[in-house]
Amino acid sequence: MNKKILVTGGAGYIGTHTCIALHAAGYDIVVYDNLSNSSREAINRVSTLIGQSIDFIEGDIRDAESLRQVFSAHQFFGVIHFAGLKAVGESVAQPLKYYDNNVSGTITLLEVMSEYDVKNLVFSSSATVYGDPERLPIDENSPRSCTNPYGQSKLTVEHILEDLAVSDASWNLIPLRYFNPVGAHPSGQIGEDPNDIPNNLMPYISQVAVGKLEKLSIFGNDYPTTDGTGVRDFIHVTDLAQGHVAALNYLESQTRTAKTDSIGFLPINLGTGKGTSVLELVAAFSKVSEQDIPYQFADRRAGDIASCYASADKAKDLLKWQAELSIAEMCQDTWRWQSMNPNGYNAT
Ligand code: NAD
Ligand code: UD1
Repeated sequence: MNKKILVTGGAGYIGTHTCIALHAAGYDIVVYDNLSNSSREAINRVSTLIGQSIDFIEGDIRDAESLRQVFSAHQFFGVIHFAGLKAVGESVAQPLKYYDNNVSGTITLLEVMSEYDVKNLVFSSSATVYGDPERLPIDENSPRSCTNPYGQSKLTVEHILEDLAVSDASWNLIPLRYFNPVGAHPSGQIGEDPNDIPNNLMPYISQVAVGKLEKLSIFGNDYPTTDGTGVRDFIHVTDLAQGHVAALNYLESQTRTAKTDSIGFLPINLGTGKGTSVLELVAAFSKVSEQDIPYQFADRRAGDIASCYASADKAKDLLKWQAELSIAEMCQDTWRWQSMNPNGYNAT
């Protein structure tokens, strides 16, 4: 069985962790990334961790010719497609940039995949496609809606994948809907390295703990939750990475037994199924890092919802995968990465 996988966006936060998990599972990988939100240093560190040089191509998913060269040079079983832009606020300010990168880029990738008859895809979708959920936990049949261009770009790609699966039964398309990925590799060598001031909670907390930022603003303490702060389903990035391996293994087993028509478009949540509040995460981080995390309450952030956590049953049933790591381990590994690399991959 051909076990070579193209990993678009493989130099990024989730991509790097997934490359390590894929390598450990016996997959050969080729990473394709334009380094717009990542660095060669991340690739170098993955190479060191796996003990062999990563096959890396610097390129853009919107560049069909460059993709063709890659598909001509390698025979892929499938593609894991992480490449995309992900900052919600920036997407509101620059919607065309987001639709171009995330939607047009994916269309170009799918066209080239089709040309080379590579029809197995795992796509990075997001729990953001569920909008403000009607019921909790959120299962894969929940209604979808989005309020910002980033979320719309993910939802639009999902619609494109659905249409593609209807048009041609030989496509096997698995959008994985991530809940809130946090944490870092236990070595402390790779982790999330946001440009500028972080938008997301965990990197903000860790930068306060390490002394780079003064205090956390908690956006709202009047939500209908246990302590009034937002509740999310935080999932360790190494568990998430393992979820991608499980999705590929599933694709492989289905194609081997010629059951391809049973896949088509198959969305799957990757979450723990447990909700944790902002205040609970702050307390857990403070405990494992033995640092004070000063905070103040601020107004709710536009577009935020009260609570969001997954039904993780479909992943367990189909992929035989479930998240293993605790909130304490997520905080511990984030803290190790942050304290060993206070300036991220940039040594200065
Ligand atoms: P990231 O920014 O760390 O990684 C994305 C990678 O894609 C980067 O290395 C970037 O350089 C690359 N890239 C961007 N545009 C590209 C293009 N046109 N051509 C080639 N490479 C390109 O982000 P991440 O956190 O690792 O997220 C990976 C994927 O998962 C993204 O699609 C993101 O939208 C999605 N996602 C992330 C989260 C999260 O909380 N991190 C949650 C849900 C979904
Ligand atoms: C956000 C995005 C979502 C995206 C996800 C992963 C918004 C509205 N949603 O989700 O589309 O898929 O990131 O990239 O931006 N919080 C604070 N203070 C902070 C930061 C966050 O109190 O400085 C709170 C938020 O109000 C929320 C919780 O922490 O209640 C989690 O926030 P965050 O980490 O940004 O994730 P999401 O809002 O779930």
